[in-house]
Amino acid sequence: RRRLSPLAPRRDCGTPAMSDHVLLIGMMGSGKSTTGRLLAGRLGRVFHDSDTEILSKTGTTVPEIFRRRGEAAFRAEERAVLASALASEVPAVIAVAGGAVLDPDSRRRIRQSGAVIWLRAAPHELARRLPSGVGRPLLEHDPAGTLRLLDARRRPVYCSLANAVIDVDWIGASVAADRAQRLANSLLSGALLSGASA
Ligand code: S3P
Repeated sequence: RRRLSPLAPRRDCGTPAMSDHVLLIGMMGSGKSTTGRLLAGRLGRVFHDSDTEILSKTGTTVPEIFRRRGEAAFRAEERAVLASALASEVPAVIAVAGGAVLDPDSRRRIRQSGAVIWLRAAPHELARRLPSGVGRPLLEHDPAGTLRLLDARRRPVYCSLANAVIDVDWIGASVAADRAQRLANSLLSGALLSGASA
């Protein structure tokens, strides 16, 4: 008879079995794309990035979609590329667009899809990183004020989805990727329960 190691990850009780993606969530400017690309390289995984995938699927940039078809059409594209990345059977690193977590179906999918790591940054740090709002249609007018508002609305949502948090105000993408790699390995092997931080 096969003996099970007591340290083997348990996937047979509690929440539904997770798939093994690593998901980075957080506000625009928190470094999801840069950190995610580095992390995917270190883990030897495919990397999915929402805005890039929307561009390759539609042939249109995010600002163009906002301008020509409006925010609701953009959110539908965002939902579709996220669903398709999460459905991929190859374990991947996925940078979840900042606003995608506002959709209840996407939240449900995110929760079932793997290790969710929140790259948390203070709004004033995000404003320092994104002073002009170029490429981000929501930030065309008053980037600092808008970031504060969006952050206040989204922070509880990111918090409720995250299995782990990395505070990125004082660290660059490379250090964030190191921490994310350690957290992802622990979360996916079942060693950490929710609420871990780095
Ligand atoms: C948005 C975030 C952006 C982009 C769009 C809207 C948001 O993606 O999808 O400008 O609502 O927070 P990143 O989070 O990848 O910057």
